[in-house]
Amino acid sequence: MPELTAPEPDPTVSSPDAGVRHPYGAAVGPKRVRTRHFQNAKLQGVPITGLTSYDMLTAQIFDEAGIDFLLVGDSAGNNVFGYETTLPVTVDELIPLTRAVARAVSRALVVADMPFGSYESGPDQALATAVRFMKEAQAHAVKLEGGQRSHKQIKRIVSAGIPVMGHIGFTPQSEHGLGGHIIQGRGDAAEELIADALAVQDAGAFAVVLEMVPATVAARVTERLSIPTIGVGAGPSVDGQLLVWTDFAGMTSGRVPRFVRQYADVRAVLTDAVQRFTADVASGVYPAPEHSYE
Ligand code: KIV
Repeated sequence: MPELTAPEPDPTVSSPDAGVRHPYGAAVGPKRVRTRHFQNAKLQGVPITGLTSYDMLTAQIFDEAGIDFLLVGDSAGNNVFGYETTLPVTVDELIPLTRAVARAVSRALVVADMPFGSYESGPDQALATAVRFMKEAQAHAVKLEGGQRSHKQIKRIVSAGIPVMGHIGFTPQSEHGLGGHIIQGRGDAAEELIADALAVQDAGAFAVVLEMVPATVAARVTERLSIPTIGVGAGPSVDGQLLVWTDFAGMTSGRVPRFVRQYADVRAVLTDAVQRFTADVASGVYPAPEHSYE
């Protein structure tokens, strides 16, 4: 594939603060987002947007609001199942969540995350897992972590007709191997990161997530690749942005990563609602006559 230089982004269509829906938004974009729209977006310099989702209601809301893709991430380990890391998450746990998200959307591309232990043994295991997500959960694509080390797995899945999103930089499933939540690709490690990105592209992935990578390195990767880069803490010079929905909407308790902008305070809204409900029940204000049957 020829190497492409990403065009300069148009600020009038890429700024979320401007309130302008970008051309791939629900109003004017494709009826259903396909992997080819990711490629078109890169060529046209149109930013791609993604959020995680783990259930039918959030998937419906995000889809109707015009998100391009939903990732049923193994971050469900932290945000649904209450684990400390993503490591314990299983395919059996993610399949029902993916099915709920896939059923809810009419436009967004649904990407299922392949959990730790479900693809590392080799291409056969990786393909078997990907097939489960496509067949049992009706995912539209799968995501797996690793660059050069996952080349064979990505290639095998893609050769079976299943679209793959790569994931390099900080890869949470390797957090113990990486020594914690550490920014990847700094200094000399930038070359290794670029090699990983090229490996993911060479294996046939349609896009690659860059997580917690210096903005300058993410810009270099984006320039080198012909497939779109999706940043999670990778600065502005990438082809798309992805956030974990519980972080971006203010549901997460405690510290969120520095790269997250919080667009809502859902936790405070719900806390207030619960406090008013319990107070109303305690004082006898609820239920009122209009909430009671004759
Ligand atoms: O599981 C997840 O939410 C992810 C993103 C952080 C990239 O893999």
